[in-house]
Amino acid sequence: QKLQGHVSVILLGATGDLARKYLWQGLFQLYLDEAGQGHSFSFHGAALTATKQGQEVMAKVLESLSCPEDVAPSRCAELKDQFRRLSQYRQLKTSEDYVALSEGVEALVQQEGRREAGRLFYFSVPPFAYADIARNINSSCRPGPGAWLRVVLEKPFGHDHLSAQQLATELGSFFQEEEMYRVDHYLGKQAVAQILPFRDQNRKALDGLWNRHHVERVEIVMKETVDAEGRTSFYEEYGVIRDVLQNHLTEVLTLVAMELPYNASSAEAVLQHKLQAFRALRGLRRASAVLGQYRAYGAQGGRTGKARGLGGPRRSALGRHLCCPPVASGILVHMDNLRWEGVPFILMSGKALDERVGYVRILFKNRAFCAQSEKDWVTAQSPCLPQQIIFYIGHGELGTPAVLVSRSLFKPTLPSRSWKEVEGRPGLRLFGRPLSDYYAYSPVRERDAYSILISHIFHGRKDSFVTTENLLASWVFWTPLLDSLAREVPRLYPGGAENGHLLDFEFAGGQLAFCQQQVEQLVLGPGS
Ligand code: BG6
Repeated sequence: QKLQGHVSVILLGATGDLARKYLWQGLFQLYLDEAGQGHSFSFHGAALTATKQGQEVMAKVLESLSCPEDVAPSRCAELKDQFRRLSQYRQLKTSEDYVALSEGVEALVQQEGRREAGRLFYFSVPPFAYADIARNINSSCRPGPGAWLRVVLEKPFGHDHLSAQQLATELGSFFQEEEMYRVDHYLGKQAVAQILPFRDQNRKALDGLWNRHHVERVEIVMKETVDAEGRTSFYEEYGVIRDVLQNHLTEVLTLVAMELPYNASSAEAVLQHKLQAFRALRGLRRASAVLGQYRAYGAQGGRTGKARGLGGPRRSALGRHLCCPPVASGILVHMDNLRWEGVPFILMSGKALDERVGYVRILFKNRAFCAQSEKDWVTAQSPCLPQQIIFYIGHGELGTPAVLVSRSLFKPTLPSRSWKEVEGRPGLRLFGRPLSDYYAYSPVRERDAYSILISHIFHGRKDSFVTTENLLASWVFWTPLLDSLAREVPRLYPGGAENGHLLDFEFAGGQLAFCQQQVEQLVLGPGS
């Protein structure tokens, strides 16, 4: 086995929510995947939390880590023990603390007698803390020549184009573009990460179909049943468009809409083609947006339309006049390019809705297929069934990520070892069709988005992350609409938990229908 170098991972905000829920587990998975490949590791949990308290939190988190299903419990205990021995907590507050951290890493490398391969700093901290941390890392924690530095950043990356640009300029004064990995965790979801490989592997079948002549519309949906309780102060400033649509759903849209590079495994080509897709997004009109707010939002501390009657909208902490942020939204997007001209892309997300589900659904025009598959036309009872390709991100009826293709469309190719046929429960219907109507595949091993992205960071796969150019292009697209919505009062929908589960479900269902109806009217015209 080739002896590789030492990699140190420094998790900033190590005792916070995201770290406890996902990041430590992702780092443990990284250790399980890579330690056998000859690398040595050290993991440094860091936060402002005092040492003793931080150590206690970290000990609890490390205790709760889990191994993949096929690892026996006794082996799992050993692996967790090894990981624990490589992990330590340190309070990181002053510039001296950063110097000490760097010296600590150097001492570890020397002790091992290896070379240093790289340092990975994961910023799981609020953006206001970025600049200070970045300055300290840049001045005290850069590894020596030949070793890489990677810094990982979490959203929000600004709240509009200007603030995103300011943040990008600030970070750019400390780090090179290739050193920064901006996480959009939807890019690590298995079904999302499959969009480009799927398009690449099925080039022949899709070549003639993936365009305005054959695609009727594309739906990109992320519905949640949870509401914003406990996060209303964040939602007050951001709302669902900034929280979910500007990033997760737009990223997914560009993966569907972008031109496929000749070499789809070239990160550079993928990012460039994606940028073209961002730039082809047609400017949004006010009429393209449906805004909603569930009724209990006000009681949970959020601003509602009533705030207007009480002296008008307040000035938010970000310095803007906001009325009452939408917590559900449906937006109709068009692309200004030949491939997609006239094809509606519907983005939809919201809290306190009727179900938790995420998917991308590409619906094909029926007539084209009726004409194409003459045999079906003659023999089948209902010849013009909707033909669709679905990247099922998760949750919902199916409960697993999956890629589904209508059987009458074509039989897809998927990476055979990592995807298997879905075994859905009998009687399961998806989008009105029995599961047997689809070729349906799900991952052999379900992995969470953060484990996947941490592995991509380790391997330097930049195409799974948001570059500065792509980030700014997304904000250029969203900012005018957000500005024009600042004083809008969203439509109220019941949702929320106050009336008990059954009612929530019904109410939330009603709201969704309202939303779809609205968007459908926007798409297909009134009276459709
Ligand atoms: C986050 C948003 O980025 O994504 C949350 O801030 C949202 O509001 C979450 O709930 C959804 O992610 P997932 O992975 O649970 O679908």
